[in-house]
Amino acid sequence: MQFDDVAISIKSLTKSFGEHTILDNLNIEIPRNKITSLLGFSGAGKSTLLKHILGLLSPTSGTVNVLGSDLADMSPIQLREFRRNFGMLFQYAALFDSLSAKGNVAFPLCEFTDMTEHKIQNKAAELLLSVGIKEVSFDKLPSELSGGMRKRVGLARGLALSPAIMLFDEPTTGLDPITTRMVNDLIVETSIKNKDRGMTSVIISHDIKATLEISDFIAFLDHGNIVEYLPVNEFVKSKNPLVLEFINL
Ligand SMILES: Nc1ncnc2c1ncn2[C@@H]1O[C@H](COP(=O)(O)OP(=O)(O)OP(=O)(O)O)[C@@H](O)[C@H]1O
Ligand SMILES: [Mg+2]
Repeated sequence: MQFDDVAISIKSLTKSFGEHTILDNLNIEIPRNKITSLLGFSGAGKSTLLKHILGLLSPTSGTVNVLGSDLADMSPIQLREFRRNFGMLFQYAALFDSLSAKGNVAFPLCEFTDMTEHKIQNKAAELLLSVGIKEVSFDKLPSELSGGMRKRVGLARGLALSPAIMLFDEPTTGLDPITTRMVNDLIVETSIKNKDRGMTSVIISHDIKATLEISDFIAFLDHGNIVEYLPVNEFVKSKNPLVLEFINL
């Protein structure tokens, strides 16, 4: 698919580890201000693709362009700086165990902005409230929070620097159905709330039903290649045998 407003553009991306080619001449353009999901069987290369978008892995060949910049042109320091454009929510929320909920959200603001302590505290509180964490929980440690609450705090932290691109890698894996529902709703809410400022969301999920509900576009990966890429309403009608197998699992 071709888009007028592209956030991420990947051309002829090949990644090999030793003799194993994991991404095989992969091409994809991901539109700005939309929710795009990557689906595919385990080992298809989804997380590897995400790591290239973050510049955590570099291509064996091909190019990764994010927000108009070619990642290969950046020094390690520039790349680290560039990653501020991303918010991330992964399977393990990876909160700092020794920091409270509020401390976790305040962390990127302390680290990367010159906001005053007072402003940071206010902003962290605002972010926590926006993802449904109430004031009584602000000072709790991650170990004192439920799995769903930890995800909310992780999301609030991911949003702290107003990222242009929010990446989710299996944000609901390992959660019970009700918490899964809640986290999925939160992803949609977050994407809609941040639409005005043009936030792009890229989601990897094993939760097919939810993915079909929340995505604008779906790309299906198989053996390191995009074999189907369609708006969600067309994707559900795909005749690709791999897609059919996957959807009917
Ligand atoms: N650093 C690495 N070194 C060698 N092989 C790797 C490395 N990272 C990933 N792989 C291999 O690349 C393949 C794709 O892995 P990847 O994690 O991208 O799959 P995935 O689509 O995210 O799967 P899952 O749905 O299980 O998370 C796997 O066969 C994996 O073993
Ligand atoms: Mg993965």
